Amino acid sequence: MNILIMGAAGSGKGTMAQKIVESFNVPHISTGNMFREAMQAGTELGRLAQHYINHGMLVPDQVTIDMIRERLLRDDCKKGYLLDGFPRTLAQALALEEIVINIDKPIQIVLNLSVEIDVLSARVTGRRVCESCKTIYHIKFQPPKVEGVCDLCGGRLQHRSDDTLEQLTVRLREHVLLTKPVLDHYAAEGLVQYIDATQEIDEVWQDIKKALENVR
Ligand code: AP5
Ligand code: MG
Repeated sequence: MNILIMGAAGSGKGTMAQKIVESFNVPHISTGNMFREAMQAGTELGRLAQHYINHGMLVPDQVTIDMIRERLLRDDCKKGYLLDGFPRTLAQALALEEIVINIDKPIQIVLNLSVEIDVLSARVTGRRVCESCKTIYHIKFQPPKVEGVCDLCGGRLQHRSDDTLEQLTVRLREHVLLTKPVLDHYAAEGLVQYIDATQEIDEVWQDIKKALENVR
């Protein structure tokens, strides 16, 4: 299946992506994760991305598009893809259209996680991510069994460097200005399923599962 998942910072894209890949056997392609891996590895791409991410701003389109084009051409995408956090601008959406035509994998559904803004600060500031396997936790809403330790691999849980209230404000502003038009574009094509992501994690997941089962 060829899926996009969209939504504001902290709306739950990564959390739902983890569940989708388990049930629907598609590779999870998160531009945010790819940039953070490059930052950790200290590559040129990582140094460039760090500058933007640490200010809550979007990484320039061309860099992001080139990275995704290369990723979607890999063999595992022959079975489909789950794109998380891409496209985030109209220029990225147009580039994606060309890429998916070339690989013959048109977008089948766009899941939009709609959420009330006032829940986002608690979600983002309480988020913890495993430094090795990248599993997402929350100190209150999705706590690990042992504080600071990943249930799945025993890795150390970290706080993301852009998870401050100051950066969240900029990220939300970028989302409204640049990413909302992308959602409108897909809505006009009738591809969008709106999911109420203010609900509890399991309720959101049940709604997403139903929406994806209807595509199959
Ligand atoms: P990215 O990593 O994509 O960040 P984001 O879009 O800001 O979204 P988040 O990852 O913060 O939130 P999420 O929706 O995944 O929520 P999560 O599931 O973790 O991008 C980071 C940066 O990279 C960008 O700011 C930009 O600089 C750059 N970038 C990335 N893509 C780019 C692009 N295409 N172009 C240019 N630049 C790009 O959940 C959050 C927390 O809430 C967790 O702790 C979770 O446990 C909890 N939670 C989740 N769901 C619920 C629920 N229903 N109830 C209670 N708690 C919940
Ligand atoms: Mg995420």
